[in-house]
Amino acid sequence: MATILAIETSCDETAVAVVNNRTVCSSIVASQIPIHKKYGGVVPEVASRQHLETINSATSAALEQAQISINQIDAIAVTCAPGLVGALMVGLSAAKTLAILYNLPLIGVHHLEGHIYANCLSEPSLEPPFLSLLVSGGHTSLIYVKDCGGYETLGQTRDDAAGEAFDKVARLLDLGYPGGPAIDKLAQIGNPQAFALPEGKISLPKGGYHPYDSSFSGLKTAVLRLVQQLKVENVVVPVADIAASFQETVAQSLTKRAIACAIDFGLDTIAVGGGVAANSGLRQHLQKAATDRNLRVLFPPMKFCTDNAAMIGCAAAAHFERGHTSPLTLGVRSRLPLTEVMQLYQH
Ligand code: KG4
Ligand code: ZN
Repeated sequence: MATILAIETSCDETAVAVVNNRTVCSSIVASQIPIHKKYGGVVPEVASRQHLETINSATSAALEQAQISINQIDAIAVTCAPGLVGALMVGLSAAKTLAILYNLPLIGVHHLEGHIYANCLSEPSLEPPFLSLLVSGGHTSLIYVKDCGGYETLGQTRDDAAGEAFDKVARLLDLGYPGGPAIDKLAQIGNPQAFALPEGKISLPKGGYHPYDSSFSGLKTAVLRLVQQLKVENVVVPVADIAASFQETVAQSLTKRAIACAIDFGLDTIAVGGGVAANSGLRQHLQKAATDRNLRVLFPPMKFCTDNAAMIGCAAAAHFERGHTSPLTLGVRSRLPLTEVMQLYQH
């Protein structure tokens, strides 16, 4: 079983981990959230510079925490797509340097594949086929996982991603960045039935609605209008009730689509991934709906829902086992469909 040093710098966390197949030996996540908070979101140039400052110490800390020497590492894994180009470049350069210096194989990893494989950290026996509900800051998709590297997109958002909707609504409610955890916390003391908010649906040309695609921008606008109207009426904005109602609507919408998709495609397991997988409302709704229909639903451990390098190492281990490694000419890509992930490997 391979021991892999994994690096993740696609957005605002400088993360390095050591994993042995599906066991985490160490995981360092140096979050830049306090730095970006004052801008209300991630500033790409600031993120790259911060990764550069932190990458070496995070790498040393990961090896130290795992009580392992670099000579005991079998391969170097790194997120190379999708993400902020400058940020990805820092991680890739560090990974290539280590691969060349220590003569180790390099394994480029698609960030979303990492989020899918984070489920193996709570359920090590997980193997395809299964359905993955990916809900992060930049993506909302239902993915048919056929094999490691073999993906089919069955549904996606037509506008805002789920995490993006949480962040935008949190900004409207003055809850700061990142919005997801803040809304989740406040929703605990709010009434989820206080406001009936519209669930975005994608109409089909011949009538009816797309069963797996979602839309969150209408919901965000509905919250904006509600807040504006309450302010015009001089009513104190019931922030907790709005947060709870919004979270309820998102959780219901994602649950409905994921369950329909799993049943229609005969998949008995739904593995959730991405930052929004940490959301308590989504966890409760999806768990209940899955149990009612005899489906298995998996969530990564809480600390591996948001960006981390352990999930990247876990995905890399699956590729390495299949003989997939990347050339040293590997580049970064700001976008890369999950369906094209095999481009990252030499055959
Ligand atoms: O996967 P992730 O760490 O980064 C991306 O790959 O985008 O996801 C970050 C997103 C942010 O939009 C954040 O607000 C959201 O995940 N998030 C949550 C929660 N924790 C993080 N959304 C809802 N509830 C949470 N508890
Ligand atoms: Zn992510």
